[in-house]
Amino acid sequence: MKLLLFGAPGVGKGTQAKLLADYYSIPHFSTGDMLRAAVAAQTYLGVQAKQHMDGGRLVPDELMIAMIRDALVGPTAKTGFILDGFPRTVPQAETLTVIFHDIGASVFTVVNIDVDPELIIKRLSSRLMCPNDGKIFSSELMDVRQNGPCPACGTPLIQRVDDRPETVRERLEVYNAKTAPVLTFYEKLGVVVTVDGNDTVDAVNLNIRNKLRALKR
Ligand code: AP5
Ligand code: MG
Repeated sequence: MKLLLFGAPGVGKGTQAKLLADYYSIPHFSTGDMLRAAVAAQTYLGVQAKQHMDGGRLVPDELMIAMIRDALVGPTAKTGFILDGFPRTVPQAETLTVIFHDIGASVFTVVNIDVDPELIIKRLSSRLMCPNDGKIFSSELMDVRQNGPCPACGTPLIQRVDDRPETVRERLEVYNAKTAPVLTFYEKLGVVVTVDGNDTVDAVNLNIRNKLRALKR
């Protein structure tokens, strides 16, 4: 099972990727989570990436491609994987084709999660994150609040810097300009399934699994 979770900021890629990774017992590679870990650890990559991420812009392709190549050629990706947040530009998608060829991953599916723009804004403004392990929560769906305890480990919850309203607007513009063309790239290859992401977390998850089962890949 090799899946690419695709969609605008806030459509639920991370939420669904975690559920699917548990269900299919495959690793989940979130480029956003990997970058946030690098920023927290103040590595060379993290220092380079922070300014772009905080402004809602994309991190340069060459940094992202090196990061994802390292993850995919490693032993954990042998039995399958879920990519969440990559590729995000057409050059990244073209390079991923080469990496897939190198690792023998010829069959893969792009799961495109489609959510109404107003709902995206609402979801991102109510998202909270645990800085300890990156777990995602929603103050709309759960009784959690900023600086309140993480339900899993008690660490005070934070809002992502890039979830501030002005940065969310920038991220959505970047998505439309740079990332939406990636969907066209994969549609031409006939590997896209589109799922309505406006429903509840569980309903969206069931919908994705049913569509993947129907593909019999
Ligand atoms: P990244 O972390 O990937 O951010 P993103 O793509 O903007 O997506 P999000 O993580 O914001 O949203 P999501 O779709 O995962 O939604 P979630 O499940 O959290 O990237 C961050 C930055 O890193 C980028 O801006 C860029 O700078 C850089 N970057 C990363 N990859 C890159 C690349 N390849 N190239 C260049 N730069 C890169 O859900 C959102 C909220 O909604 C949560 O609160 C959740 O609980 C809630 N929710 C989820 N599903 C539902 C539902 N069905 N109903 C109700 N609420 C829901
Ligand atoms: Mg995410």
